[in-house]
Amino acid sequence: MSIYQNKKSLVIYFSRADENYAVGYVKKGNTEYIAEYVHDLTNADLFKVEPLIPYSKEYDKCIEEAKMRIYNAPIKNKLSDISQYEVIYIMTPIYWGTYAPELETALKDLDFKDKIIRIVTTHEGSRLGSVVEDIQNLCKSAIIVKDSLAIRGKDCINARNKIEQWI
Ligand SMILES: Cc1cc2nc3c(=O)[nH]c(=O)nc-3n(C[C@H](O)[C@H](O)[C@H](O)COP(=O)(O)O)c2cc1C
Repeated sequence: MSIYQNKKSLVIYFSRADENYAVGYVKKGNTEYIAEYVHDLTNADLFKVEPLIPYSKEYDKCIEEAKMRIYNAPIKNKLSDISQYEVIYIMTPIYWGTYAPELETALKDLDFKDKIIRIVTTHEGSRLGSVVEDIQNLCKSAIIVKDSLAIRGKDCINARNKIEQWI
């Protein structure tokens, strides 16, 4: 058992189903598989960040919408209190080199003092992009563990073993 596994944990993640690069039309987004594996292995609570207005089902439209949302990305529900958690797993697809813009909205006003953050990105080439730096900027008082993981989007469905080793 790892030093994190028995700590009270929360997974905050963004993931989008429908058409995507390298996987075609899918019912479940790539990152959601990873969130569920971590939930199974650690009993972490799950919080899915959902856009107020869903993205288009078509990939080409979605990437344009995501670019616009960098400046304003409202979400359906916002977390207000994470005080009961010791470890926060943050998982996001790479959108335009960093996290999905809705994730920033979700994390922005939370109190991360003394929280341990572990990061997973899913991507199709950019690996972690600038996610680690961008999350550190946003969650200034958090301790980000230096073992962030980047997983190819299309490999997520089969990444349970990888997550088990990382956890
Ligand atoms: C709007 C948008 C922007 C993307 N930008 C990048 C990118 O800059 N670099 C990259 O490697 N992959 C990029 N991708 C691919 C996704 O990061 C990848 O498919 C990811 O696994 C999707 O996760 P999800 O299915 O959980 O939403 C992008 C995909 C979308 C839809």
